[in-house]
Amino acid sequence: MLQIQENISLKPYNSFGIDVKANYFAEIFDEAGLIKLFKNEVVKSNKLLIIGGGSNVLFTEDYKGLVIKISIKGIQSEVLEDKVLVTAGAGEVWNNFVNYCVAHHFAGVENLSLIPGTVGASPIQNIGAYGVELKDVFESCTAFEIKTGQVKTFTYADCQFGYRESIFKGALKGQYIITSVTFRLSAEAKINTSYGAIETELLNRGIENPNIADVSAAVSHIRVSKLPDPSTIGNAGSFFKNPVIEKYEFADVVAKHPDVVHYPTADDKIKLAAGWLIEQCGWKGKVVGQTGTWKNQALVLVNHGGATGTEVFQFSAQIIDSVKSTFGVTLEREVNIL
Ligand code: FAD
Ligand code: EPU
Repeated sequence: MLQIQENISLKPYNSFGIDVKANYFAEIFDEAGLIKLFKNEVVKSNKLLIIGGGSNVLFTEDYKGLVIKISIKGIQSEVLEDKVLVTAGAGEVWNNFVNYCVAHHFAGVENLSLIPGTVGASPIQNIGAYGVELKDVFESCTAFEIKTGQVKTFTYADCQFGYRESIFKGALKGQYIITSVTFRLSAEAKINTSYGAIETELLNRGIENPNIADVSAAVSHIRVSKLPDPSTIGNAGSFFKNPVIEKYEFADVVAKHPDVVHYPTADDKIKLAAGWLIEQCGWKGKVVGQTGTWKNQALVLVNHGGATGTEVFQFSAQIIDSVKSTFGVTLEREVNIL
């Protein structure tokens, strides 16, 4: 049954735990519900915001429009000769989907264990962790066009994936609602433990020949030790992207700061560890009012309880200024500011 609620608190629907209100709110459980919703007057006369788990958003004010939470469930798999195609509803909780794949021995997403949020949001910023990005396993997705109500399939090439980027965050921002995602996985595990901490964690566990369940468990353990749990401390993961700069710009940075943590990128640029830059500026673990950075990961901004979105946003601006004046590098926010 389609229900449009009015004047509701979004606090339970965002992992930062920011207490703002939406004029209207609807939760959608299947595509038929979406079609029905789009016939409603409230859709026609309001601006729209699509959310999944609300784990990559920062609300800085009440939402004067309709918030649509996508809770379309369902997972199906098809084992083919050279690959396994798994299709999941956009509202599946990402980690439940990962657990399904690990339990069925479908390899490819185990390094992405324990990332909060939903399957439908995973292509939006091309989620990534521990040496794997969504794009590495993405086959296609289906999406509902807000303007026309037509459902379109997006292939890998259509999505223009980049580091924490896709066409859905760029040229097509706000134009489509992703309803399902199909992943190209493998029945044969190609274990990827190249990200330093995974190997160390597996060795600590005495595991020499890990399977995908071992990798998933190791990644989950590392994540829990570094990142705050949003159910107790509000946050949205990394608040900024790791800055990617040209080699000539890097030459300036490294000349003044020889120990800067950095990685080469596939397109011959340099990615800097934003957490390191922020820590060097003295922000790690700092508490400022009700906000601050996390004690074990300076790239994560937190809500210590009762912070407003504006407070967090202004704090993030202080960090941007500080990193810019110390290193000459501009941090870009990764979290969607609303
Ligand atoms: P939401 O926050 O609800 O939405 C994010 C954006 O996607 C919004 O712009 C929204 O409008 C849009 N959107 C959501 N669903 C849809 C849909 N169905 N159709 C169209 N648009 C949609 N991210 C990483 O990449 N790697 C990490 O390691 C990582 N670690 C994290 C750790 C913590 C503790 C937290 C809190 C967050 C972390 N994140 C990480 C960020 C977050 O988990 C991801 O961005 C995730 O994909 C967000 O999913 P969501 O459903 O919560 O999206
Ligand atoms: N570092 C510090 N101090 C800090 C944090 C990090 O010096 O407080 C340095 C360390 O040298 C560390 C390096 O930065 O080795 C990298 O840190 P980490 O491995 O924690 O990864 P990250 O670059 O900070 C990125 C993603 C995370 C993802 C991890 C693991 C971005 C913006 N963030 O963080 O994604 O989980 O790698 O792969 O790319 C997210 O997007 O929300 C997110 C959590």
